[in-house]
Amino acid sequence: MANDVKLTSLSSKGGCGCKIGPADLENVLRSLPKQSAPNPNLLVGLDTGDDAGVYQLTNDLALVQTTDFFTPIVDDPYDFGQVAAANAISDVYAMGGTPITALNIVAFPITTLDESILTSILRGAGDKLDEAGVSLAGGHSIDDQEPKFGLAVTGTIHPDKIHANSGARPGDKLILTKPIGVGIMSSALKKDMLTQEGIDRLTSVMTTLNKTASETMRNYTVNASTDVTGFGLLGHLSEIAAASHVDVHIDADAVPVLPRAQQLAQAGVIPGGTKNNFNHVKEHVTFSENLAETDQYILCDAVTSGGLLLSADSSEADALLTELQQKGVEAHMIGEVTDGKNGHITVD
Ligand code: CO
Ligand code: CO
Repeated sequence: MANDVKLTSLSSKGGCGCKIGPADLENVLRSLPKQSAPNPNLLVGLDTGDDAGVYQLTNDLALVQTTDFFTPIVDDPYDFGQVAAANAISDVYAMGGTPITALNIVAFPITTLDESILTSILRGAGDKLDEAGVSLAGGHSIDDQEPKFGLAVTGTIHPDKIHANSGARPGDKLILTKPIGVGIMSSALKKDMLTQEGIDRLTSVMTTLNKTASETMRNYTVNASTDVTGFGLLGHLSEIAAASHVDVHIDADAVPVLPRAQQLAQAGVIPGGTKNNFNHVKEHVTFSENLAETDQYILCDAVTSGGLLLSADSSEADALLTELQQKGVEAHMIGEVTDGKNGHITVD
């Protein structure tokens, strides 16, 4: 087959982006019987909905482990490799960890697709690992009709400095470090509805590492953090709110949305995964009557390789936001944690 194959046309379903997967599958994985002898060194496991698992090795050292892989989300194989790597590493950054090693996970139709495509995917991932300072330690590949690529990533963290999703406190300010709308844009790309400019913008958002955002947040009091991926902004925010036993408020106008995504959504391009997210989260959300249905969907739009969502102490949030922006991070303050305890979200 020629090298100009449209990679995204080979995808069935998109991926998610945290350590488990789409919500319906996640329920199956979480319903597993508990291990008979839970190890106390497993500080963060399956039950909390955090981005990565954390296992304590010594008093001041723990491992952070995560994996993610998916079908092609862009057509350029090099860019796909970059997106997959940035996305897989992100869960370590979301916990406040430092990624150190990675393993490639490859499924590729070696009899029907030119191997140069796989080489480009691996090169893209490798360059992104270099940028992150992560060593490639190995990997595994299988022959598969549908190409898939991702990585398992290991990081380190101090056991007392884990940024889980459960620490948000009333008064905290919520900061988001990348624009949303990625799922809508990706859906449009598959339908050939994006110009090259749109593809470039989408790709640059997804290939941006959360390294700077993560390293910056560690110098401030950030009480909870996660990265925004498959469950969308409101889905991941809902996990923080529930795990922290707080309510939150989002100012829809303050949420950064890729401009083209807004137009596409208004034209009816709403991916199925985004509607699923909306249906999963809506019982926990009160939307303002003034907020159009399209905007409600955008806030639930499934993201690949999204930004960090930080719940920052109110006394330090302005300084954190300023430093992030000065370092070139597309950070915005989008809301705050309020006094309730029910894991409820209001949006106006
Ligand atoms: Co995550
Ligand atoms: Co996921």
